[in-house]
Amino acid sequence: MTATARAGAPFLPAETDHDLAADVREALTRHPRQLPSRYLYDALGSALFDAICELPWYPITRAETRLLTAHAREIVSGRPAPARIVELGAGNGAKMAALLEAGRPVSRPAVHLVDVSPAALATAARSIAAVSAGPIHSHQTTYDAGLAEIGATRGDGRTLVLFLGSNLGNFDPDAARAFLRDMRSALTTGDRLLLGVDLVKPERDLLLAYDDPLGVTSAFNLNLLVRLNRDLAANFDLRGFVHRAFWNAAASRVEMHLVSTAEQHISITGASLALTLRPGESIWTESSYKYTRDGITTLLTGCGFGVRAQWIDGTSPFALTLAECG
Ligand code: AVJ
Repeated sequence: MTATARAGAPFLPAETDHDLAADVREALTRHPRQLPSRYLYDALGSALFDAICELPWYPITRAETRLLTAHAREIVSGRPAPARIVELGAGNGAKMAALLEAGRPVSRPAVHLVDVSPAALATAARSIAAVSAGPIHSHQTTYDAGLAEIGATRGDGRTLVLFLGSNLGNFDPDAARAFLRDMRSALTTGDRLLLGVDLVKPERDLLLAYDDPLGVTSAFNLNLLVRLNRDLAANFDLRGFVHRAFWNAAASRVEMHLVSTAEQHISITGASLALTLRPGESIWTESSYKYTRDGITTLLTGCGFGVRAQWIDGTSPFALTLAECG
């Protein structure tokens, strides 16, 4: 990973526009057309996601924070105490801060934050510094590259990895297994994983969570096109697209799409791509898989982790699972 100095953000490794261009070209020429969900999180996208977490219809963040706070001592102060805590997809750092504040780890663990958004990382580092005495390291990079760094830099003591917010839900089942196996390989026996995953719930609740009546999720989804217009000199007309979310029961996932309302000719200069969208044709931008308790346990066990504890929120079905590398 190379560090690129940029005005106002020295020494932060840049996510190059080349990755973006290649990924967008590859995904948009698939059938059905897609865009990678990780590109939802530019500065505005991260802020819109923070707003989603405040919506009364999106219970994931509140349910998880209740569980983190209630079980913080067991998670971060249980023996042996972790020497470092790594969060993949740390976002604004509020959950790590809540965990450290409620758990008060005496081991002064080093904190490692991995996220693709520099804006989110800056916020996270500030709010965690207010509640933690240990060193804080920011890694502006993807999950995979973050895991590789974590694997390459271990010292003495245990590592606790946090993978929260149902971020695992963005992976297809095969990719989730591959990712958890990679994580297991980057860790060592006795290291732990705290996994927060949303559970299957009634369809009407899921539809309200992913197509909220305030239109914040719609803005979050459409902002992906704003980003491509800016970063790849594309010419998407936002008025020609509508946000759609639906529950795919057979696959146990909520799908988020951007549906073209008319025939449109799109050019994405920075990706050397031109395409024509038919009326009603959609671009699939995200999957949010929903799990069962048994499904989570089976998945973790099959990837080399043993489940030590699993806590379920009573208000909105959500599972926080503490696992250990066997
Ligand atoms: C951050 C990926 C877990 O899938 O629920 C929120 C993102 N998408 N509303 C999720 C999201 C639409 C969120 N994750």
